[in-house]
Amino acid sequence: MAKKIKLGVFGLGVVGCGLVNIVNGRREALSQAHGIELEIVKAVVRDPTKKRPADLFGIQVSTDMNSILDDDTLDLVVELIGGMEPAFTIIKSALARGKPVVSANKALIAEHGPEILNLARQAKRPFFAEASVGGGIPILKTLRESLVANEITAVTAIINGTTNFILTKMEEEGLSYYEALKIAGERGFAEADPTMDVEGFDAAQKLRILAAHTLGGRYPQGDILCEGVSGLTEHHFAFARKHGFAIKLLALARRRADALELRVHPTLIPRLHPLASVRNEFNAIYLIGDAVGEIMLSGRGAGSLPTASAVYADIVDICTRTTTIEASVESAPAAWPTRVLPADEAQSEYYLHFTVLDKPGVIGEIATVLGRHHISVRSAAAELVPNVEEVGELDVIVHRSRERDVRQAIAEIDKLERTRGQGKLIRIARDL
Ligand SMILES: NC(=O)c1ccc[n+]([C@@H]2O[C@H](COP(=O)([O-])OP(=O)(O)OC[C@H]3O[C@@H](n4cnc5c(N)ncnc54)[C@H](OP(=O)(O)O)[C@@H]3O)[C@@H](O)[C@H]2O)c1
Repeated sequence: MAKKIKLGVFGLGVVGCGLVNIVNGRREALSQAHGIELEIVKAVVRDPTKKRPADLFGIQVSTDMNSILDDDTLDLVVELIGGMEPAFTIIKSALARGKPVVSANKALIAEHGPEILNLARQAKRPFFAEASVGGGIPILKTLRESLVANEITAVTAIINGTTNFILTKMEEEGLSYYEALKIAGERGFAEADPTMDVEGFDAAQKLRILAAHTLGGRYPQGDILCEGVSGLTEHHFAFARKHGFAIKLLALARRRADALELRVHPTLIPRLHPLASVRNEFNAIYLIGDAVGEIMLSGRGAGSLPTASAVYADIVDICTRTTTIEASVESAPAAWPTRVLPADEAQSEYYLHFTVLDKPGVIGEIATVLGRHHISVRSAAAELVPNVEEVGELDVIVHRSRERDVRQAIAEIDKLERTRGQGKLIRIARDL
């Protein structure tokens, strides 16, 4: 006879209903494989009368948080509400009452992960949150278990499906940013307010969790350079295509001499790099381990069933563990420096784009300003803007330079008489 595991679930939204559907669909398989049966006994939502795309037969649905927290017969609590409160209070209370907890809450874990882990350790109860980083991609467990032989020396990730969908449409169909965003909304890949996604904040939250997991330490949001995709244009994609690059919103963690680089920004990467082939809403995490070398995990970073797949796996992991229980978003031994390199001190090769008046000498004038800021030009080319008299686009690639110098040079160039609007920089990463 299968051992019954009773679950209390907070939230029956996109992920919560996905979880119900997987629990219902995998009953027989789980019993045969592991001799356990998951039973969602209680769920807490805002509106219990709402119709939901899942069979809730046998689940007691209410708005009363304590119906789950006070129930000593429940074996495990699942938090799928999202946001800070009441999710934080729910997780703390459940752990304090001796219940293992599974969550998918990236916003909360990015901010309070270390605190939650301390509580889990004190309570000697597991806290697992696989779905908080790459949706259905099993990255945290892979790092924790399968890559335990490695020191991870670099992490490069596409961890926001909305922006990857938008960038794919801009690249493959030549759409403008707003046209691509509209299609993302129509297909359910962008929220009504897309700011968290398109400005890179969602990816930065996941990078904080990933960094804490791989590198150890705690990284405030303010330490992470975060730039989104809303300033990208068709011209930038045409330039990238012509020069053998793809443009991806990357979340990067890198070890530099005595500091870490943690950054989220659009990046020109070689078209032949595995990350360049990650299309549409897919996510991917590309790692370098000192023993395994390069490894990439790719899959759906969001959605009902993909995300619930990771939540379900955490639940089964907890229920089938026989060894000492550990938390899943834990601090690795701090082999890496913990100081985050200020964005200004970072170095990169850059693609710079300026709108200029088509007059003799303008390229030389811009190159002179760059030179004054210790920036050397690798290539520069100008072309007229179609249908706009005497206005040109100037594309410049500069050798590896310090970000502060590049920003100061752009600010100076923007003030020249023969430039228009604001210069744009996009970082180039040839060796990821
Ligand atoms: N959706 C994804 O693809 C995805 C991917 C990765 C991670 N996640 C994470 O998974 C979590 C859940 O996301 P989701 O997309 O499933 O959210 P959602 O569709 O908005 O569902 C949230 C659920 O929580 C309930 N809820 C919200 N506030 C509540 C409160 N104060 N008290 C009681 N119940 C409350 C809602 O109840 P009602 O239904 O009655 O309103 C709803 O059932 C979030 O942390 C999110 O970041 C989601």
